[in-house]
Amino acid sequence: MTTILHINSSARTTGSISRDVTAQYITRLQAAEPAAIVVERDVASSPLPHLTAEVIGAFFTPDAGRSAQQIADASLSDTLVAELKAADVIVIGAPMYNFSVTSSLKAWIDHVARAGQTFQYTDKGPVGLLTGKKVTVFTARGGVYTSGPGQAMDFHETYLRAVLGFMGLDDITFVHSEGLAMGDEAVATALTQTRRTIEELVPA
Ligand SMILES: Cc1cc2nc3c(=O)[nH]c(=O)nc-3n(C[C@H](O)[C@H](O)[C@H](O)COP(=O)(O)O)c2cc1C
Repeated sequence: MTTILHINSSARTTGSISRDVTAQYITRLQAAEPAAIVVERDVASSPLPHLTAEVIGAFFTPDAGRSAQQIADASLSDTLVAELKAADVIVIGAPMYNFSVTSSLKAWIDHVARAGQTFQYTDKGPVGLLTGKKVTVFTARGGVYTSGPGQAMDFHETYLRAVLGFMGLDDITFVHSEGLAMGDEAVATALTQTRRTIEELVPA
């Protein structure tokens, strides 16, 4: 049975394109496999705190040596890491804010990118520990970054590929809905294209 982790990170709860298209995709995945388990993690509606000195201290203290306070300090991160490890399929709704991911998604990344848990350093360099998982990222962007001059400003796909890949999540499909601030026609074209891509990714 497949476990799907569905992460949303738009601050908007109505009118959000990334929420809408990830919901469409999840609906199709569930239609294809009704028994699939879907775990919802909404990092915008239920924001995660920034890392603190105490939490970082707990991360770098081996499990056996942690105080009760450190166990408590690391518990949220532990939950998020466990959620990620348990997932076979990860679906991320990732709006572009200021040329990259939202700060809410960045906070999630800060909690799950953990040495010894999701990556480790070896004598050959860093190795990702999250292998065999399929990731689909649905972006939503006001401008266009897959072609033209905007490409140089894309710290969104490039960043997500780098940090997810660092944790071993290197089977990533990006589905971009872009040009969403460029008029009704551009929005309609983008959403039609995204819907078609979803249908291709999960045939009925
Ligand atoms: C705070 C904020 C920052 C944004 N920054 C950018 C940006 O740098 N580049 C861009 O193309 N669009 C930008 N946008 C537009 C969003 O990417 C676009 O509205 C997208 O649809 C938001 O995702 P959502 O529909 O899921 O909420 C920004 C929107 C907001 C609210």
